Amino acid sequence: MAKLPIITAPDPRLKRISQPVDSVDGEIRKLMDDMLETMYAAPGIGLAAPQVGVLRRVIVVDVAREGEEPQPLKLANPEVLWASDEEATFEEGCLSLPEQFAEVVRPAKARIRYLDEEDEIREIEAEGMLATCIQHEIDHLDGVLFVDHISALKRNMILRKLSKAKKQHVLATA
Ligand code: NI
Repeated sequence: MAKLPIITAPDPRLKRISQPVDSVDGEIRKLMDDMLETMYAAPGIGLAAPQVGVLRRVIVVDVAREGEEPQPLKLANPEVLWASDEEATFEEGCLSLPEQFAEVVRPAKARIRYLDEEDEIREIEAEGMLATCIQHEIDHLDGVLFVDHISALKRNMILRKLSKAKKQHVLATA
């Protein structure tokens, strides 16, 4: 496994639509494993392939709390089959928007269909943090960030901070 560099906003690659995988082969399995390693090292609870510069519909998540058994999920071509009318609000962050957080409202439950690491079709019904996390990661595959779900005022404040942080980083490392 290898740790991959994570792309941070602003970056046009985070706004692109990712392509489905034809099947989960050795190459995609390696991508899934590398993404999990990258996510755990960050640390984070979810990561989508475009965040490591790969525009394919692949996500990994693990919402287990510290001290609990890890519960890694590797999903290719994830699709929301059904989402509840009931909503839930969670404070979200994103490895591509470091140190930025905002409350986001999403469906509280969702049924997801995906290909697992053995290329088998699976469905799960997710709720709570898992439902939010999977929906957040699927958004990445469509070029959508959590800040796209909040008010323009808050979004612009966060994006300005990130832009500034990036410029300072470039100056510091030039
Ligand atoms: Ni994210």
